Parts: sequence; structure tokens; C-alpha cells
Amino acid sequence: MGQPKSDRVAFVTGAGQGIGRAIALALADDGRRVVAGDLRADAAEATASEVGGLAVTVDVTDGASVAAAVERAEAELGPVEVLVNNAGWDELRAFVDTDEAFWDRVIDVNFKGCLRMTHALLPGMIERGFGRMVNIGSDAGRVGSSHESVYSGAKGGVIAFTKTVAREAARAGVTANVVCPGPTRTPLLEGMAQISGEKLVASLERAVPMRRLGEPEDVAAAVAFLASERAGYITGQTLSVSGGLTMA
Ligand SMILES: NC(=O)c1ccc[n+]([C@@H]2O[C@H](COP(=O)([O-])OP(=O)(O)OC[C@H]3O[C@@H](n4cnc5c(N)ncnc54)[C@H](O)[C@@H]3O)[C@@H](O)[C@H]2O)c1
Repeated sequence: MGQPKSDRVAFVTGAGQGIGRAIALALADDGRRVVAGDLRADAAEATASEVGGLAVTVDVTDGASVAAAVERAEAELGPVEVLVNNAGWDELRAFVDTDEAFWDRVIDVNFKGCLRMTHALLPGMIERGFGRMVNIGSDAGRVGSSHESVYSGAKGGVIAFTKTVAREAARAGVTANVVCPGPTRTPLLEGMAQISGEKLVASLERAVPMRRLGEPEDVAAAVAFLASERAGYITGQTLSVSGGLTMA
């Protein structure tokens, strides 16, 4: 059964490549008018032109940038009714080798970025009585991940934050859920593999019961479902898309 089409406006952060790009494509396939937001203007533009959507440059670590991007999106396309907080960043480091500047950066992108976007868009969703929020967590935020301590904490924060927003907004017809990718073949992962050597990918593949890395499209399919009208009775949930790596 195909997804019923809906032309509601969907804002995807970090849409310029990897998982965010695949999410933008999947949502456009379902008929959404997509706002492709990214720190890099050229990347946002590339995805927007693929999906016939609107490109906006946005830095989720900057409140003024978020406010301007949301204002532009709503001025051009109308109210944003679907929000996918996907922008994220990490670098593999043992916790003992990190410092406070690194913690701040990881928390700012992965956790506070999600807060800023949600704070800008949730009031309108509540007021209009409809909304779908899908936040991209990580299996690291559920079960931990070596050399990703601060990132794991930030993603754990995303999961707990989403559950609370889900409770607060449930009666207003707004759902909020988390999709947790496992190791997924994207530029982020390829960058980490380059630094830590090819063994990283091989060992990740061995750890996954399905014996392969995720593809961005695997994650996008779950996001598109949770962002759809059909998922209206599902809220506050955390769904791993990781080939069976995390069963919790
Ligand atoms: N790839 C994986 O294995 C994996 C696993 C678990 C979770 N995730 C999560 O999935 C999401 C997407 O990851 P990916 O692998 O596609 O990453 P990626 O680095 O390939 O793409 C991320 C995109 O986000 C953009 N971005 C980065 N910082 C930004 C900011 N401050 N404001 C706006 N845009 C910004 C980048 O420009 C880039 O286009 C992230 O939240 C990541 O933590 C990825």
C-alpha cells in the first residue's frame, strides 16, 4: 500500500547530504513541499532542486539563523507542519581526550539544534492542531558507543526531550518520535572510517545481525512513515533502524 499523498510543508535540517537528503527525497515522494535546510548553501540547493523544494541556509547552532530560516520557509511555502531534526555532527574521540570546547560543539549541534528548531516551530503546530516531529537520534543514545560519549549523551537527551514534548503536545494533535539510525553509509561515517581505517566499517558490518551497514534510504522510510498522517496514534516512541543491531 503506498503512502497517501499530502502536500503539507516539511522542514528537514541537514538535508544537504546523507540521511537528511534521503529523508527530503522520501518526503517529496509522499507529496510534501520540502524545505531543505543545511549549513552549506550549495548542498541545500542541490537537494532542493532534486525534490523541487525550497533551499534555506540554516545553522542550527545559531538562534538568529534558525529564526530567519523558519521565517523565510513560512513566508514562501506557508506553515511548516512536519519537522525533521536531522542535522548532527560527531568526531570519534575517547572521552579522556575531549575538552569542554568539544563537548559544547557536540551538544550545540546534536541537542540544542533540535531544541532551537522545535522552539521555533512547535507553537505554530500546537496552535493549528496538527504537527509531526521526527528527531534523528542514534543507537549511541540508547546503548552507548565507544569514542562517542558526549554524542551519546546528546542523543540520549534528544530521546528524552522528544518523549516530553510528545506528552506536552499530544492533545494538540502533534506527534513527536525519534528514529535512531545504526551505522549508516553517509559522508559522516565515511569521514570517520577514513580517520580510523577501513577496519571500522568491517567491524561494524560484523556487529550488525543483517551483516551490512544501513543505507540513508533505510532510515528515510521510517521517518516518512512517522511523518505521515497514518502515524497519528504513535507518539513518544524511539525506533531503531539498524539491521537488528539494537533490539530495545
Ligand atoms: N551515519 C551514521 O552512521 C549515523 C548513525 C546514527 C545517527 N546518525 C545521525 O543521522 C543524522 C544525519 O547524519 P549523516 O550521517 O547523514 O551526516 P552527514 O554529515 O553526512 O550529513 C549531515 C548534514 O548536516 C549538515 N549540518 C551539520 N551541522 C549543521 C548545522 N549546525 N546546521 C545545519 N546543518 C548542519 C551538514 O552540512 C550535512 O549536510 C545526524 O543527526 C547523525 O547524528 C548518523
